[in-house]
Amino acid sequence: MKQEDKNFYGVYAEPLQTVLQNMLDELIQELGRIPQEEDGATPAEHLNSRIKSAESMRGKLKKKWLPEMPETALTKLSDTIGIRVVTHFVGDVYAVLEKMKQAKCWKIVKNKDYIAMPKPNGYRSLHVIVRLPFDNAEIPFIRGEIQLRTIAMDCWASLEHQMRYKKNIQDTALIESELLRCAEEMASTDLTLQTIREMIRK
Ligand code: GTP
Ligand code: MG
Repeated sequence: MKQEDKNFYGVYAEPLQTVLQNMLDELIQELGRIPQEEDGATPAEHLNSRIKSAESMRGKLKKKWLPEMPETALTKLSDTIGIRVVTHFVGDVYAVLEKMKQAKCWKIVKNKDYIAMPKPNGYRSLHVIVRLPFDNAEIPFIRGEIQLRTIAMDCWASLEHQMRYKKNIQDTALIESELLRCAEEMASTDLTLQTIREMIRK
């Protein structure tokens, strides 16, 4: 963890790291319970995890008119700690979700299925908000966010995120509609790839 993040989270910095590590261990254990197919395919292509940086947390709290304090981050927001699971196929997203329901270290409190209901800009992912025990007298539980998406969804989200921060964009409406078209083409490719996999496995 960077020094400025440690300064922001203070006494909560270490417990946050511990909770995130426990969460990762449990998730990896659950992923291991997904039966391996003959082709040896794993559901997850890769996992990322992060504690929200102080800079980004301050920005988010400010935007929500909340005090810029770690206690607020931990009690009012659900993505102070986050994990992203990038899967090969769309079906894997829901296979991982099923396993996540069996995990003992958290309780799923909310699912936001932006795959079934994509955002108007084309963003797709399944966001799972979980409740985790937090070893603190004042803050006994915190929430965390696990994002599940395919490689194609991850590719789109990462390019869109990168471009969103570029300044002085002309023709915004055209750019937005082109990005939306890319998202839809990638979603259609995801479905084709899923079908091909099922054909091969039959
Ligand atoms: P914030 O967006 O984090 O303020 O919270 P929220 O309650 O609106 O949650 P939401 O479900 O919209 O998304 C939270 C996270 O999903 C973000 O921090 C991003 O990681 C990701 N996300 C949501 N929408 C988009 C999007 O349009 N593009 C990209 N690239 N990522 C997105
Ligand atoms: Mg949002």
